[in-house]
This record gives sequence, C-alpha cells and structure tokens, in this order.
Amino acid sequence: MADYQPVLKAVVPAAGLGTRFLPATKATPKEMLPVVDKPAIQYVVEEAVSAGLHDVLMITGRSKRSIEDHFDRAYELEEALRAKGDEQRLAAVRESSDLATMHYVRQGDPRGLGHAVHCARGHVGNEPFAVLLGDDMIDARDKLLTRMIEVRQRYGGSVVALQEVAPDQVSSYGCAAITGTDEDDVVRITDLVEKPSVEEAPSNWIIIGRYVCDPAVFDVLEKTPPGRGGEIQLTDALRTLADTPAEEGGGVYGVKFRGRRYDTGNKLEYLRTVVQFASERDDLAPEFMPWLREFVARHDAS
Ligand code: UTP
Repeated sequence: MADYQPVLKAVVPAAGLGTRFLPATKATPKEMLPVVDKPAIQYVVEEAVSAGLHDVLMITGRSKRSIEDHFDRAYELEEALRAKGDEQRLAAVRESSDLATMHYVRQGDPRGLGHAVHCARGHVGNEPFAVLLGDDMIDARDKLLTRMIEVRQRYGGSVVALQEVAPDQVSSYGCAAITGTDEDDVVRITDLVEKPSVEEAPSNWIIIGRYVCDPAVFDVLEKTPPGRGGEIQLTDALRTLADTPAEEGGGVYGVKFRGRRYDTGNKLEYLRTVVQFASERDDLAPEFMPWLREFVARHDAS
C-alpha cells in the first residue's frame, strides 16, 4: 500500500439557500430541520466522528447562526435542566457540544458546492479531507465513509460515493462512467456527467453526498468556471481530476454504496426519513406504529 497522508478533517457544506424547503428555510437552515428530535446535521457530524474525523469544518452562510449555537455549550439551558435534576435531557443537550472540534467559515455568497468546498482551503491546507453534505444522511449502521477513507489510503486520488438508481432517475443527478477494479465495491471513475438524459447516461450510478478529496481539488476549483445553474460545481472539478495524472493528485475512484441513505433536502425524502427513524425508536414506536397503521387504513378506506 502506498504511503498516503491520513484523512483527519471533515468539511460539511451547509451554506446553501435550501429553496426546496421554503418557507421553513427562510430563517432556519435546512440542515437544522429535525429528524425526530435531532437536527439532520448532527447525524452527519456523528458520522464523521465515527469514521475517525474529529476536526469538523462547517461551511455556513446567512442565517446559519443556529448551527453554531447547536454545537456550542448552552449554559443557561444546562443549568435549568441540572436544577430540575433532568439528567437525561442534560446529556442530550451536552452531546452535540462534546462531539468534535468544530470550526466555522462563512461562504458569503452561495456560489455552489464547489465554491463552498474551496472556502475550506485555509483550514484544510495540503491534506486529504472528507466532504459530507449537511442534508444527506447515511445510516449509522452502514460504514460508507470509513470504507471511502480505506479506498483513498489504498489508491490515493479522490473518492466519491455512488448509489445505483432506476434508469429513469439518472437525469436528476450527477452520473458516473465507471470501470471495475479488482475489488467488488470499488470502481475507477472515467467521466462524470451532470443530469444526463436517459440515453446519454453512462451508467445507473449517481454521485451522493460523501467525498474524500485530494487537496489537488483546491487548485482545480480555483480554475473551474460556473457550470449548471451558474454555480461552481464540485462534480466539474472532480471530472478534471479524473483526467489528471496520479502524481499531480489526480485519479477518482467510486465506492458502490448499497446501504441506507436519507436525502433530507427534499421534502418527500425528509418525510420518509422522519417516519423511518420514529419507527425504530423504542420510546416512540410502540405508540407511533399502531397509530400509523390505523391512519393509513382509515386514509385508504376514505
Ligand atoms: P443543494 O444542491 O441541496 O442546494 O446543496 P441548496 O441550495 O442548499 O438547496 P435547494 O436546492 O435550493 O433546495 C447541497 C449541499 O451543499 C451546500 C448545501 O447547504 C447542501 O448541504 N451548499 C450548496 C453550500 O454550502 N453552498 C452552496 O453555494 C451551495
């Protein structure tokens, strides 16, 4: 195995406008919307920590102060809970502030995911790093990021996460042209096509919100012009890296993910996620599930 630098830092872009969730996201970031009783972004930070990344940089923007407050201590609240002897809620409140070493940088203008990632350059420096989208959740039982870091340690370059979708869904996502490696779940990326038509799609594998990037991505992003939607796209920079020699930090690999993913930036998926998480909670499921069954039966009958 080549001797690559370890991946120690996580970057979580959370500066997007969240227009699909308006008006809820007028003053609240979509990453703070709760999945049962925890904001989506806390699950994302927990995932980074469980993959060994304890240094987390959030890319925030306008009206994102609640994210910083959420990962900070809340002394008054803690005091009030302590005075009441409510140890359980006190532990829940402390959990998010004790999770990781948090850092913040503001994006200013949300000029796209690629631009958000470029804002991390000063903090990340010349090291490989992970990117976890703040509204995209991977089930804690499925160790995708850990596997992606292993792949980076073995092959170098950058690594994207891929999920297989039905052919008619490909046109909503970034789609990868792939060739196999000697590992079942690892492919080499030969091209990336943003939102291809069904006929143009090189495969059924789409890119989802986890990346491990070589620091070479920063120089490429600097030269990447705005693409789809006038935004600087991370996908465009990765396409350039797929064509760049390994000695210059190039090469892009994909990990085929067959686990559970929850895209909470999309209303329908968000609703499904909340219901699924509630159905697995010991404190809620015994009452929630019978209600849900009855609700659906009543709904179908009418
Ligand atoms: P999305 O593509 O979901 O964009 O970004 P968005 O603008 O937040 O949401 P909609 O489409 O308007 O509803 C994917 C991730 O990248 C971040 C977002 O916060 C989200 O976590 N992002 C996007 C940035 O940090 N900066 C940007 O300029 C764009």
